[in-house]
Amino acid sequence: MEYKLKDGRVLLVREANENDAKEILEHMELVVSESDFLLSEPDEIDWDIEREKKIIKMYRESKNDLFLVAEFDGKVVGMLNFRGGKRRRVKHKGEFGISVRKKYWGLGIGSALLNTLILWAKKVGIKKIQLEVVDGNERAINLYLKYGFEIEGRKKRAVFKDGIYIDLIIMGRWLG
Ligand SMILES: CC(C)(COP(=O)(O)OP(=O)(O)OC[C@H]1O[C@@H](n2cnc3c(N)ncnc32)[C@H](O)[C@@H]1OP(=O)(O)O)[C@@H](O)C(=O)NCCC(=O)NCCS
Repeated sequence: MEYKLKDGRVLLVREANENDAKEILEHMELVVSESDFLLSEPDEIDWDIEREKKIIKMYRESKNDLFLVAEFDGKVVGMLNFRGGKRRRVKHKGEFGISVRKKYWGLGIGSALLNTLILWAKKVGIKKIQLEVVDGNERAINLYLKYGFEIEGRKKRAVFKDGIYIDLIIMGRWLG
């Protein structure tokens, strides 16, 4: 899908394919160093391109998983991965993670990725989308609130960073 960004430029949001593996790993390494709110640290990125290709293939072949990339100027600048439940009792819902390169924050790329996820989820019959966000990540929380997500709970002291324990906030949107 194509989106017009706030500065008028055009963004492409599409499903990731195996040729994106290297760029996706580069993107992940970059965003975890740029943001204080992701759970991995740069040296924890598994730089195994073949493994990443398999992961992308697994997403492509699954009916209730989705791996999106946001492509801008021919480069991957954002990604979103959604994993649907695998057992019957939790198949109606899933969780996602999202990231955009800092240089491109505020242009509407996060919104474009999330909008694409919601359209796809409705199409394939997913009833509920959930996520966890580190307390204090106001930019992300505002993005989710804008798309109709509600705060459902809190996992206390679930993250440890720079000597401090931080809560994770659980958010969800019912699509059913
Ligand atoms: C969170 C993230 C994905 C948002 O992406 P983005 O491309 O900047 O998002 P958008 O430009 O679509 O902005 C979405 C909303 O964020 C909110 N927002 C933007 N700037 C903000 C700021 N400085 N403070 C608070 N909220 C802000 C607004 O509600 C905005 O919607 P609006 O422009 O219609 O008002 C991106 O900042 C990111 O990758 N952060 C690092 C990784 C991360 O935190 N991921 C989420 C983990 S749960």
